[in-house]
Amino acid sequence: MTSAVDRKMESYIEELGDSRALTLYRKLPKGKKLRTKLIFKIAGESQEAIDVASTVEMIHLASLLHDDVIDGATTRRGKISVNASDGDKSAIMLGDILYSKAFYQLTDMSPQIAKIISNAVILLSLGELADVELSSKFHTNKEAYLKMLYQKTASLMEASAEVGAILARKDRELFREYGKNLGIAFQMIDDILDITSDSKTLGKPALHDFIEGKVTLPYIYLYESLDREEREYLKSLHKKRLSEDEALWIKGKMRENRVVERAYAEAKALVEEAIKLMDSVGEEGLSDIARAMIEREF
Ligand code: FPP
Ligand code: MG
Repeated sequence: MTSAVDRKMESYIEELGDSRALTLYRKLPKGKKLRTKLIFKIAGESQEAIDVASTVEMIHLASLLHDDVIDGATTRRGKISVNASDGDKSAIMLGDILYSKAFYQLTDMSPQIAKIISNAVILLSLGELADVELSSKFHTNKEAYLKMLYQKTASLMEASAEVGAILARKDRELFREYGKNLGIAFQMIDDILDITSDSKTLGKPALHDFIEGKVTLPYIYLYESLDREEREYLKSLHKKRLSEDEALWIKGKMRENRVVERAYAEAKALVEEAIKLMDSVGEEGLSDIARAMIEREF
C-alpha cells in the first residue's frame, strides 16, 4: 500500500525537526505514486522497497516543486501550488529540502541502487533544461522532443523499475525497458490531455502547454499537416494568450488532420511494447498498470 510510503516520507521530514518545513510539506497533495506502484508490483512491499520508493517519491515531489516555479504554474494536482500559495522562494527551498533528504537516505542504500537513482536525477534535470530551451521558440524537432520526454519523465520511471528488479532479483534490462516505454508514453499522454481535456478537469487553462511555449507532439504533427499560410498562423499563436477563436482554430485544425489520434497511436504503441515485455515474463499486474495508462480519460 502506498500509504506506507506517505508515512515514511512524513517521518523523514519530521526527523529534520523544522516546523516550517513540515507545515509546507503537509500542504503537498498526495498524488498517484505511480513510481511506488511500479516498485511494489515488481519487488513486493518489503521495508527495502518502501525505503527506495520513499526516496524516489521525494525526488519526484522536489522536481515538481521546482517545475512549477519554472513553469509559473498556479495549480498542482488540482490544488493551489506551493509557489502560488507561499512564493517561489519557499517552493524552491522545500524542493531542495526534499531532494537533499532523499539523497541523504540514498547513502544508506547499496551503491548500485544509489547510482541508478542519482543518474536518473541528472537526466531529469537535463530534460527540464531541454524543455525550457525547446519552449523558448517554436520548433518541429520530434527527435529533440522525444529525447526531452525520456529525460524529463521516463528516466525516473525507468530507474524505479530497474531498482525494483534489483530488489527482486529479476531481469534488470527487461524491467528497465518497460519503465522507459511506460514513462515516455505517460508524458505523451499528459501532453495530449492538455489539448483534449477541458480546463476544469485539467485544473489549468486549455492548450496551456502551447501558451506556455511547449510544442508537444500533436503540434509538431499539426504543423507538418498545414499549408504555408496556416503554418505561419500557427507559429504566430505560439506563446500567446489565445482568444477563444484562436484556440478553436487550433482545435479544429487538429481535428481535421487527426493529429491527436496520431500522437495517441504512438503512445499506445509504446504501451503495447511494455505490455508485451511483461506478458513475456507473466507479470500481469505490470501489464495492467500499462493498460490503465492508455485508458486514462482523454
Ligand atoms: C514536469 O513536466 C516536470 C518533470 C517531470 C521534471 C522536472 C525536473 C526538474 C525541475 C529538475 C530536477 C530537480 C530536482 C530538485 C530533482 P511538465 O511541466 O511537462 O508537466 P506538468 O504538467 O506536470 O507540470
Ligand atoms: Mg510543469
